[in-house]
Amino acid sequence: TTNRTFTMIKPDAVANGHIGAILNDITAAGFKIVAMKYTQLSAEKAGEFYAVHKERGFYGDLVSFMSSGPIVAAILEKDNAIEDFRKLIGATNPAEAAEGTIRQKYAKSIDANAVHGSDSDENAQIEGSFYFTAFERF
Ligand code: CMP
Repeated sequence: TTNRTFTMIKPDAVANGHIGAILNDITAAGFKIVAMKYTQLSAEKAGEFYAVHKERGFYGDLVSFMSSGPIVAAILEKDNAIEDFRKLIGATNPAEAAEGTIRQKYAKSIDANAVHGSDSDENAQIEGSFYFTAFERF
């Protein structure tokens, strides 16, 4: 289904005090929260989550950054969720993110880029299931 996506508010945005502002932007854009938790990934769990990037040069830095502090993980629902959420957050590199996007407003670098958004329906499903059971979805 194209009506759900998965997001994380990453350790940089949490540490910089942007949880509230980012959740406000997300809900103001029409996304409904289906599931949400405040948690921290171990290095092992972060490595598992990002296994698709294992061969990339940035994998080690990505795993240590994503396990460096607490995050907010959430499943979001809206028509056209994947595409609309990627528009809302902006380009992966905040230097290239459009004006008004979450990454343009709150992110500092390509690694510390404030939020994650799933890139496909299939990955949204996999990523959501990494964090949430059926009983944790509303
Ligand atoms: P995200 O798409 O949420 O998940 C993978 C992350 O790897 C990405 O955000 C970036 O924060 C990080 N990253 C670091 N370097 C790169 C790169 N060259 N290309 C893509 N992602 C990168």
